[in-house]
Amino acid sequence: MKRIGILISGRGSNMVALAEAVSAGRIPGAVIAVVISDQSSAAGLVRARELGLETLLIERRGRSRVEHDGEIAAALRAQEVELVCLAGYMRLLSPEFIEAFRGRILNIHPSLLPSFPGLEAQAQAIRHGVKFSGCTVHFVDETLDGGPVVAQAVVPVLDDDTPDTLAARILKEEHRLYAEAVALIVSGNYSVAGRRVSATAQEDKE
Ligand code: GAR
Repeated sequence: MKRIGILISGRGSNMVALAEAVSAGRIPGAVIAVVISDQSSAAGLVRARELGLETLLIERRGRSRVEHDGEIAAALRAQEVELVCLAGYMRLLSPEFIEAFRGRILNIHPSLLPSFPGLEAQAQAIRHGVKFSGCTVHFVDETLDGGPVVAQAVVPVLDDDTPDTLAARILKEEHRLYAEAVALIVSGNYSVAGRRVSATAQEDKE
């Protein structure tokens, strides 16, 4: 079983989508080991507990990023986590954390990267006037929302969209896409060549 740790800061709907996908057998071979929030007010913490998941609150409390991330890394190791999924985790991770879990951290971002990295991606898309946007699941490296892309989904941007209506349309796709992407990574049936992540033929499990 691949043990997944999910980091959240807020609502946690992508965390719930992953947990439901695991329960429904759509991410074979995976178990959610722990959900960690850096925010005590995160609604996702309550939802995770309701789902019977192990939860931890690890706040920054004025410490350096490296110290904070060190405590998160220790908690993930204590839970023998092999894959870290960021799900609305709104803090940059330290290079030390990224190095410790290199190639084993995924993030979901509400735009078609490399367009509109950073905060308020949906508002950025509307302001820019693009006709399509979407969401991206990518490996996390030291660049902001810049790691190799695992999967993307596209949605139209409508003339009367507000950031909220566009966000809702994208979020629906996020929930489906994140589970699919995590299932691919957990299966191990992928290869990475430079920045290109490709699904490979399923191994014969006989
Ligand atoms: C999601 O739309 C996610 O893509 C976005 O925050 C939202 C979290 O919602 N993440 C980022 O913008 C990261 N840069 P959730 O807490 O309900 O999953």
